[in-house]
Amino acid sequence: MPLLPSDGPLPDDAAHPDASADPSRAARDLLLAGLERFSPDVHPGAEQRTGTRTGSTTRDPDPTLVAVDATDRLLLDEAASALAAAGPGEVVVIDDRFGALTLGAAVAHGLTGIRVHQDAVTGEVALDRNAREAARRAFQGVDATFTHLPLGEDLLRGARVVLLQLPRSLAALRDVAEHVARFAAPDVVVLAGGRIKHMTTAMNDVLAESFTDVRASLARQKSRVLVARGPRPGTDLTYPVTEHLADLDLDVVAHGAAFAGASLDLGTRFLLGFLDRVSPGARDAVDLGCGTGILAVSFARARQGAAVVATDQSEAAVRSAHATAVAASVGDRVRVVRDDVGSSLADRSADVVLCNPPFHQGAALSTDAAHRMFAAAGRVLRPGGELWTVYNSHLRYRPALERAVGPTTQEGRDPRFTVTRSVAR
Ligand SMILES: C[S@@+](CC[C@H](N)C(=O)[O-])C[C@H]1O[C@@H](n2cnc3c(N)ncnc32)[C@H](O)[C@@H]1O
Repeated sequence: MPLLPSDGPLPDDAAHPDASADPSRAARDLLLAGLERFSPDVHPGAEQRTGTRTGSTTRDPDPTLVAVDATDRLLLDEAASALAAAGPGEVVVIDDRFGALTLGAAVAHGLTGIRVHQDAVTGEVALDRNAREAARRAFQGVDATFTHLPLGEDLLRGARVVLLQLPRSLAALRDVAEHVARFAAPDVVVLAGGRIKHMTTAMNDVLAESFTDVRASLARQKSRVLVARGPRPGTDLTYPVTEHLADLDLDVVAHGAAFAGASLDLGTRFLLGFLDRVSPGARDAVDLGCGTGILAVSFARARQGAAVVATDQSEAAVRSAHATAVAASVGDRVRVVRDDVGSSLADRSADVVLCNPPFHQGAALSTDAAHRMFAAAGRVLRPGGELWTVYNSHLRYRPALERAVGPTTQEGRDPRFTVTRSVAR
């Protein structure tokens, strides 16, 4: 049974022409219309700043910057018959951005026991907040229809319908596809949606590694859904992978969705060359946006007395960083936490922050997270503490670093990257 609003009329101008004839669809559209981004990065103008790294505007705002996009709606429509036939606990949603898939499916089809995995902790927060708001507004009980789980057997055991917002990286997609094929029911159907401009045929190929039948839906409003059936028996899990980086003499462990996989990012490599210049007395260090933890582990190995906190919003990243630290025998001095730009760290608790900030938010180029990381560094550094940052030289972050942290000097520059040292006031 669909979960209908507990009060208030259904909208008669719902997004779909059939909505007035279909109460569950109208209820879904009412719910979707009320969703918010609940994203720490949202601020006036953000919706427009997706075209280039330098901030030119675009006529095609990226869907990562709206609460519900055409892909969410297409996925819910393409999955409607499978969702209607699913029983309690048989639906899994992966990488829902702000809750549209989970809450839309729950409301339209009266589903309960939906298992949800979101790699980004900010996605979890957004889903929870939207669920609470929806429950308060009109959809009583919708906030109790789902649970959060890490990517693993518990998430997928016996699942019969999997809805997925396609990740950017093929490794992340492979990790998800293999988990589904290995643990879900033999008749599982996977519906994986994305914006056409971000989709490649390599995504079909990756799904076909784990499923015998992969086809694409018709496109609608610049989105498309890949539908995969027939999990290949005996599918093995590729991730985590471990690579030995000879020049660092370091084993890097990476789950599928971790930034740069088990390889060494060029910016990270450049910043590593400056580690011995970090204040000799630094004891408490933070790797902000740690990815697989290469900076955190390298610092811990170089400074025997140091305690390092490695933080990232990505579940794949923190699992990888923990494993990398353990493999390097510094697991006791590298504490790994999953949070949004170090929000769980105490004020003035660090002597040094190392940061190779992101320049993406979802598929969109965005410097918002970088600026929030600089602000976080300014907060967690003790006076006199140092933020060491590496970034693509054209980004010209120095004025922002001066404002957020303190006096900033350029310590190194090559044709691509700049490394700066900012001293906290
Ligand atoms: C350029 S990568 C650097 C990774 C790693 N430090 C390295 O040097 O290889 C940026 C990292 O920031 C993380 N990130 C993005 N947004 C974040 C946020 N809001 N809070 C915490 N981490 C975030 C990404 O998951 C990614 O791992």
